[in-house]
Amino acid sequence: MNPFLDSLLPYPFERMNALKAGLRSRSNAPHIALSIGEPKHATARFLVDAATDTAHVQAGLGTYPATRGSDALRAAIAAWATKRFALSRGTLTAERHVLPVSGTREALFSFGQCVLSGRADRCAVLPNPFYQIYEGAILLRGTAPHYVACPESTGYLPDFDSVPASVWDACELLFICSPGNPTGAVIPLDSLKRLVALADRHDFVIAADECYSEIYPDERRPPPGLLQACAELGRDDYARCIVFHSLSKRSNLPGLRSGFVAGDASILERYFLYRTYHGCAMPTHVQHVSELAWSDETHVLDNRALYREKFATVTPLLAEVLGVREPEAGFYYWPQTPIDDETFTQRLFVEENVTVLPGRYLSRPHDGGDPGVGRIRMAMVAELAECVDAAERIVRFARTL
Ligand SMILES: Cc1ncc(COP(=O)(O)O)c(C=O)c1O
Repeated sequence: MNPFLDSLLPYPFERMNALKAGLRSRSNAPHIALSIGEPKHATARFLVDAATDTAHVQAGLGTYPATRGSDALRAAIAAWATKRFALSRGTLTAERHVLPVSGTREALFSFGQCVLSGRADRCAVLPNPFYQIYEGAILLRGTAPHYVACPESTGYLPDFDSVPASVWDACELLFICSPGNPTGAVIPLDSLKRLVALADRHDFVIAADECYSEIYPDERRPPPGLLQACAELGRDDYARCIVFHSLSKRSNLPGLRSGFVAGDASILERYFLYRTYHGCAMPTHVQHVSELAWSDETHVLDNRALYREKFATVTPLLAEVLGVREPEAGFYYWPQTPIDDETFTQRLFVEENVTVLPGRYLSRPHDGGDPGVGRIRMAMVAELAECVDAAERIVRFARTL
């Protein structure tokens, strides 16, 4: 067996199951899970119709899909990204700069396998706390992870200034996540530009996970992206930069398994080769739905309006007992807990039948600290009434502490 498998930690939800094993809730109220970031808003009707269109599904089931995806899908993606991130026209081409992926989870993982050399003296840099796939991709390639804390003092952004030059010299791949899971922090455009300069200076690749980029409160201020930083720098070849986007959160399609990667054409050419063996080509009927989804913004605007209403209602409720702040973007709260995060999670479940995720399951101890300890992650994915119900139960519970 691959010896690096031993370095993987159980996934947070398995740790969660172990934490709750043997516990029974004393509450008769229905269970509410705020622990999983699975969008629950209704999928737009035209997308459901497209996904269940018998002719397309039948055609898709009867063919091997192409790894590169259809020209039409890649064109829709290139057009979307060009408009969304104000890229210079024609610089992000459907032919060379875009690949469809079967959800960003598999893409983030396989991208790590493709880019990292596996040399013992090299490393990869990732935020802490983080989406667990980054670390899995790094560890399973036998690469050393270097964690960068996202403390409250930096607005929950990775403190890149704390990274020694020797680490950047050894770095092959930097993962960033903006808007952040779990912190909701958005990396400003100037910081993205500085990271691009750092990547040039120290010769590494940036993998920017932007799968929450379309969930944000202010229509006038969409979160910036890495390709946008490149465009502003006049870096129209997007050298060293790859972004990851998903329909899961943007279009409430987590079950479709659809996203894309875009950026540096020379890296994508190598990644395309990798993917032909990796074998995660997107089924053609899924490509069809995806093309429609990337070509429409109305349903995305409607989705954002639902989150806006939800955060406006729930934040003042929770703020009575927990130091919650509305996330800059994305759909998570990441508050401190008045007691240990695992104990808080257990007791909240027992008293109120609400499940949250202990922060420590999303972070690692590093440099004498652990930015997840004493925090919880709460996903505001359910419909408004259920989130309000959950908030009221949390308030009742927190008042007993
Ligand atoms: C930060 C982050 N990146 C990537 C993903 C994967 O999303 P998907 O594979 O559905 O595109 C998730 C899912 O929750 C996530 O939170």
